[in-house]
Amino acid sequence: MKALILVGGFGTRLRPLTLSYPKPLVDFANKPMILHQIEALEAVGVTEVVLAINYQPEEMLNFLKDFEKKLGIKITCSQETEPLGTAGPLALARDKLVDDSGEPFFVLNSDVISEYPLKQMIEFHKSHGGEASIMVTKVDEPSKYGVVVMEESTGQVERFVEKPKLFVGNKINAGIYLLDPSVLDRIELRPTSIEKEVFPNIAKEKKLYAMVLPGFWMDIGQPRDYITGLRLYLDSLKKKSSPKLAFGPHIIGNVLVDESAKIGEGCLIGPDVAIGPGCVVESGVRLSRCTVMRGVRIKKHACICSSIIGWHSTVGQWARVENMTILGADVHVGDEIYTNGGVVLPHKEIKSSILKPEIVM
Ligand code: GDD
Ligand code: MG
Repeated sequence: MKALILVGGFGTRLRPLTLSYPKPLVDFANKPMILHQIEALEAVGVTEVVLAINYQPEEMLNFLKDFEKKLGIKITCSQETEPLGTAGPLALARDKLVDDSGEPFFVLNSDVISEYPLKQMIEFHKSHGGEASIMVTKVDEPSKYGVVVMEESTGQVERFVEKPKLFVGNKINAGIYLLDPSVLDRIELRPTSIEKEVFPNIAKEKKLYAMVLPGFWMDIGQPRDYITGLRLYLDSLKKKSSPKLAFGPHIIGNVLVDESAKIGEGCLIGPDVAIGPGCVVESGVRLSRCTVMRGVRIKKHACICSSIIGWHSTVGQWARVENMTILGADVHVGDEIYTNGGVVLPHKEIKSSILKPEIVM
């Protein structure tokens, strides 16, 4: 089977992290977002993943080369010369997606995280005989998503409305699709939206089916949702009794610590924390609801809460970092500094406290 991941866009909502890496390579729970997806695809028998991309394909391919070998999966790029939206890239990659087998292929938005119940999706697709299957999930605030109205018992989609202004329903498009090759006959090679131009038409012909996604789901393309997404992800590891979760007297709730990270004495860590490879957390540090990316050093007695610490940054001793502070790569926060919601661009040194949420350039 084949799959296409939509990796276009500049990830502006996840700056300053995306100033150093393209969004799909930003770590989530100690590995790049896109690896969560590629591994899930590989696990259900996908042998080739096409990345639909409109900038920096070299960086992405270089990075993924190792994983290609490790997972025994082929990863290629289909590069647009102008952004083609969410449907145009499928037309562009047509030859890569279709072969003689006539098999359906997966399409994924690159910024969604879930348990990827792709096996169930294949079964569902076989069972309904329609042309396209999409995953849906319930949310409280549906207006920023694609909303789906479906027949509960069969899953047949009656309407698909992208970002509705008026309330239509609370089941939304989760950005995970399984499509028959015939769907490609509906898409022209031009900038076009699968949500606005393709799905509503398939629904009209009663050939679009939706499956309610079991388990958690989150679009992690913004810092607040990223932090919530980590909580949901760790919670799902907990439910599966995953051996990846850390345990010990210094751990509270669900915590992920890379095996190469060093944790000093008297620390208190959790809940909902991810500590990446090569990190050094000195003694007496307090961490909760935060992500500490690869190569970070947190000095003695620092306290970090509801924040993201970018790659290779340092946080000084007795510093307090909280309230959606996002440190870009290689940022250095001085001793005893307080940051309340500071968004700090890469390579900065913070010598005085940031008292209210602001961008530090
Ligand atoms: N290759 C390519 N080219 N990819 C693109 C382009 C483009 O021109 N534009 C967007 N993408 C990719 C993004 O990188 C992302 O992975 C995906 O398409 C969806 O774009 P977003 O910008 O993240 O859309 P959204 O979050 O507002 O809405 C989409 O996702 C929701 C779920 O998170 C829609 O699919 C909604 O219907 C859905 O509910
Ligand atoms: Mg999105």
